[in-house]
Amino acid sequence: MYDNTEILNEIKKYTSVQDAPLNEPERQYFFMAKLKEVVDKRSEEKGKRLTACVVTFGCQMNARDSEKISGILKVCGYELTEDERADLVLYNTCTVRENANLKVYGRLGRLKNYKEKNPDMITVLCGCMMQEEGVREKIKKSFHNVDIVFGTFNIYMFAELLYMKLIDPDKNATQIMAVKKDYEAIVEELPKDRKYPFKSGVNIMFGCNNFCSYCIVPYVRGRERSRASKDIIEEVKTLAKDGVKEVMLLGQNVNSYGKGLEEDINFADLLRMVNDIDGIERIRFMSSHPKDLSDELIEAMKDCDKVCPQLHLAMQSGSSRLLEKMNRHYTKEDFINLVEKLRKAVPDISLSTDIIVGFPGETEEDFLETMDVIEKVRFNSVFTFQYSKRTGTPAAVMENQVEPSVVKDRFDRLLKLVQSISDENTKDQVGFTEKVLVEEKDDKLPGYLTGRTDKNYLVHFEGCDNLIGNIVDVKIIESKGFYYIGELV
Ligand code: SAM
Ligand code: SF4
Ligand code: F3S
Repeated sequence: MYDNTEILNEIKKYTSVQDAPLNEPERQYFFMAKLKEVVDKRSEEKGKRLTACVVTFGCQMNARDSEKISGILKVCGYELTEDERADLVLYNTCTVRENANLKVYGRLGRLKNYKEKNPDMITVLCGCMMQEEGVREKIKKSFHNVDIVFGTFNIYMFAELLYMKLIDPDKNATQIMAVKKDYEAIVEELPKDRKYPFKSGVNIMFGCNNFCSYCIVPYVRGRERSRASKDIIEEVKTLAKDGVKEVMLLGQNVNSYGKGLEEDINFADLLRMVNDIDGIERIRFMSSHPKDLSDELIEAMKDCDKVCPQLHLAMQSGSSRLLEKMNRHYTKEDFINLVEKLRKAVPDISLSTDIIVGFPGETEEDFLETMDVIEKVRFNSVFTFQYSKRTGTPAAVMENQVEPSVVKDRFDRLLKLVQSISDENTKDQVGFTEKVLVEEKDDKLPGYLTGRTDKNYLVHFEGCDNLIGNIVDVKIIESKGFYYIGELV
């Protein structure tokens, strides 16, 4: 997937760490080569390859970051596994809601037992949660079994940090903490190990400038930065040559792509450029902020034949009063108008959204406004969240935090409505033939495969393994709620 042989050979000429080049990414290739020597030696001593398990929490950004981390581990000689009793376990964390953090602390407790059985085991924590000072303090104080901590801005340094840890003679006594506060440079030219050979995420921008009042992401992912279009296009072309058919362009708000770049470009332009790349058959993107979804972009979505008829458009609330307090810069009416425009341009578009229940000050009337939009828009899927207080965000100190019992009640009512709409929507799809990108073997039904339609619906159907990675016609014969049963046409 990433030919690094030449670079690794080149780097062998360096003999000591002091010789490490200072420029990136050459410096990291130097450490990857050094690390590989250590990992190979230890694998030989052990009589089996050292194993590494990468566990991802959170969103698509983290999933893509994990592919970068796995790429580095693989190049350095680790065998990847899903078993957490591995020689190296890495948690790529999320902190968007409190329960995301609690999950990590719970799993760290379990790792302690594994480490007792395998004292050489290395435990690594990275990702958004590590950008929070309070979390780092807690890890220093209470989780001595954690060996390495790094943040969202220095993933590229992973090989260097791991090498330092592995060669440290007193490794059990030290905890490496390397967390930068913001980007110094975007280092992208490193190995990546894709989960699927035929589809891939592509970062087109990093960070977020929107500061929605409930959200911690801008504090842990830094300011918004777009990548130069030539780098993105080059990456997509390389992916296409490597067999990738579907790309997901990633950013916290892709609609503001291009701001701050020297070139004069916006997301609609970029979409058209990616659409022209041979070999790419499907394009998706996320996330889109409703305030920045321009007519020009809707036009581009309509014109570009490879752009899937599917959009995730987070509404958060249907109450204009709350949307203002959330700092979202649109009203209920703006949102409904936007959906109308989208449906006019792309009539069969499948829409998904995020809703937060229990934002501070949410009244029953506000909540009913949300329910009203859900009924009017009839989204194809809705991700529902109970508001979670994030220290450091403006909403955390707002008055009138909603009672947990009230939040729970509203959340249940919302889920019920969402479920009934989804049941009706899914029934409407039965009988149609859809193009499905076959992803993997069904892990429950022998002889079955699973894949996704261009509208991103999950379909299970009978078929041979050699179809994996291909786009095939599947007739939808039954709706099972969250997925469909289909048959090959
Ligand atoms: N940037 C994306 C956007 O605006 O569409 C989404 C970012 S966030 C990773 C995903 C979702 O988490 C948000 O759309 C929001 O619904 C939810 N979320 C963020 N902060 C939250 C909080 N404090 N409590 C509950 N849900 C939250
Ligand atoms: Fe968070 Fe808002 Fe940025 Fe999305 S747009 S990541 S919700 S601050
Ligand atoms: Fe979580 Fe970070 Fe994504 S906080 S949702 S993993 S950007």
